[in-house]
Parts: sequence; structure tokens; C-alpha cells
Amino acid sequence: MPADTALTPAAAARRHLRFGWWSLLAFLTLGFTLEMLHAFKVGLYLDASNDTRRLMWTLAHAHGALLAVINILCGLYLRVAPEAAPGRLPAVSASLLAAGVLLPGGFFLGGVTVYGGDPGLGILAVPAAAALLAAAVYGLARGAAALGRATAGKGDSGRGQRR
Ligand code: HEM
Ligand code: HEM
Repeated sequence: MPADTALTPAAAARRHLRFGWWSLLAFLTLGFTLEMLHAFKVGLYLDASNDTRRLMWTLAHAHGALLAVINILCGLYLRVAPEAAPGRLPAVSASLLAAGVLLPGGFFLGGVTVYGGDPGLGILAVPAAAALLAAAVYGLARGAAALGRATAGKGDSGRGQRR
């Protein structure tokens, strides 16, 4: 498959670092916006009847910022240990990026329109994002098995040699 060979660990690393930093900026800005909604005591956010919206938007802010950090971590990891890049790197990388959009995006949209105590339909993106995130982390964890092998291959010129 040409697409599978096109994405090198270095290219994926760049992609995750770029996405991660911009995404962190976006979700910190959302945090700042929530802060402003508090400062100006905006009812649409703070009224008891809008509890669900407040929870959803707080979760969007928190998960967006945390997933941005995970993307940055993934970029650094692929940079320092390209040999541990998962076999299906394009799929793993795309899943992690998609989770970084869909998890906070789903929480955010879930808070745009609320139905009594229930979030809006956007919340349906959250379980999809959870599945993508789990798949990506599984791929990265499996790839990490290559770390031991690569070190053993490089460090030991013969079996049983120890330093
Ligand atoms: C890496 C950076 C950040 C992370 C991981 C983060 C994470 C979180 C988490 C987990 C919560 C939920 C706390 C709770 O409900 O107990 C939260 C709430 C909040 N954060 Fe952040 N945050 C970050 C940066 C910021 C920044 C820079 C601002 C503002 C300038 C901000 C503003 C807020 C506000 C206003 C809330 C409360 C929302 C509410 O309850 O109405 N956050 N954040
Ligand atoms: C797999 C996808 C995930 C889903 C579906 C999910 C869902 C949730 C939900 C529903 C809550 C709200 C709990 C409550 O206040 O009743 C929550 C809280 C939280 N989650 Fe996640 N989460 C996910 C991934 C993550 C990840 C990857 C991190 C960290 C890297 C994280 C960090 C947190 C934190 C810090 C809180 C507490 C926020 C607060 O106090 O308001 N979550 N999560």
C-alpha cells in the first residue's frame, strides 16, 4: 500500500507536534474563555439550569488540553525512538489526531444545545473518539515492544555480552 510507506516516523512526529501545539493553544484559549464566562457571570454558562453545558464545556477544555499534550508526547516519542513506530503508523497516527479533535469536539458540541440534563447529539462523537484513542494507544504500546529488541540488537554484539 503506497500510503503505508509514505508516512515516515519523522513525518508523523512533525504532524503530531504541529497538531499538539496548535491544539493546546486552542484549548487553553477555551479555558481562558471559560474563565471570562465566570468573570462576567454569564448565565448561559453558570445558571444552575445550565449545569450540563458547564460540565460539557469544562470537559471539552480539559480533554482538549490533555489530548494535545498526548499528541506532543507522541511526536517527541516518534522522534527519539523512530524504531518503535507501530507497523500501521498511518492508521495509528490518523486515529490519535482524530481522537484529539473528536473527544473535545464531542464534549463541546454536546454542550451547545442541552436537553434538560442531557447533552446534545454531539456527545455521540465521544465514544467514537474513545475507541480511536484506545486503538492508537494499543498500536503505540505494541510498537514499544521494538524498543527492547532494537537496544539489544545495537548494544550487544554477541549473546551474553553485558556491560
Ligand atoms: C495544560 C493546561 C491545562 C489543563 C490540563 C487544564 C485542565 C483542566 C481541568 C482538568 C479542569 C477541570 C477541573 C475540575 O472541574 O475539577 C479545568 C477547569 C478549568 N480550566 Fe483548565 N486546564 C489547563 C489550562 C487552563 C488555562 C490556561 C485556563 C485559563 C486561562 C484554564 C481555565 C479553566 C477554567 C476557567 C476551568 C473551570 C471551568 C468551570 O468549572 O466552569 N485552564 N482545566
Ligand atoms: C477515552 C476517552 C475518554 C473519555 C470518554 C473520557 C470521559 C470522561 C468523563 C465523562 C469525565 C467526567 C467525569 C465526571 O466529572 O463526572 C472525565 C473526566 C476527566 N478525564 Fe476523561 N475521558 C477520556 C480520556 C481521558 C484522558 C486521555 C485523560 C488524560 C490524559 C482524561 C482526563 C480526565 C480528567 C483529568 C478528568 C476530570 C475532569 C474534571 O474534574 O472535570 N480523560 N473524562
